[in-house]
Amino acid sequence: MGWPAMPRLGVNIDHVATVRQARRTYEPDPVWAAAEAQLGGADGITFHLREDRRHINDRDARLLKETVTCKLNMEMSINRAIVAIARQLEPDQCTLVPERREELTTEGGLDVVRLARRVRPVVEALRGKGIEVSAFIEPIPDQVQAAADASCDAVELWTGEYAHAKGPRAMRAALKHLDTAIEVGHSRGILVHGGHGLTYTNIKPVAALMGFEEFNIGHSIIARAVFVGLRKAVREMKALIGDD
Ligand code: PXP
Repeated sequence: MGWPAMPRLGVNIDHVATVRQARRTYEPDPVWAAAEAQLGGADGITFHLREDRRHINDRDARLLKETVTCKLNMEMSINRAIVAIARQLEPDQCTLVPERREELTTEGGLDVVRLARRVRPVVEALRGKGIEVSAFIEPIPDQVQAAADASCDAVELWTGEYAHAKGPRAMRAALKHLDTAIEVGHSRGILVHGGHGLTYTNIKPVAALMGFEEFNIGHSIIARAVFVGLRKAVREMKALIGDD
């Protein structure tokens, strides 16, 4: 399988909504953030409509669908009500993630091996609407195989092990896990994405691994945008991804 010369950058705008919700007001607007990110060169906009609606809400999802002109990626749990919303909204892609109310952000991947019987009908229901389906999983060959068995179009490999690695040895081991998982994904004919904990300082070695189609990055880009603006923050991240 060939892979793109440069992986796409999906910008996760949830944090903009988190700031808004801190005051339960109307600003900053994640829909505006999506427009700014696109002007900075984002290839995709990613949002997570959580069951508890702690940041992105149904109005945001609706307006993002109406206004985003690049790839729209909806992160979501496999909860029945959320699946119904996704089927109605019809984003370009849905990324299935685990969801726990007490977590600060998505921690680790969806256990597709254990949840295979629940994941498969969700994948079918979404693909039936022409939506591409990705599963956010840990970079473990069995998880990649299970996602492929469940007819996913793609997997998004959790890059948290790499991002949290202490020291070069742990980092190398984490990169190896990612590389192996990429290989398994390609051998099964599915696309491979990556995300979680990627920053301006740790992206390069991951971007240098051949075979990632897309990165989804949120916290680091929004944090930088506070100082330099979102367009510039996106532009800078894109330059690092492309600069191998
Ligand atoms: N990909 C997925 C599936 C996620 O759940 C998240 C966090 O919302 C991200 C990527 C982005 O992670 P970060 O905010 O650490 O860049």
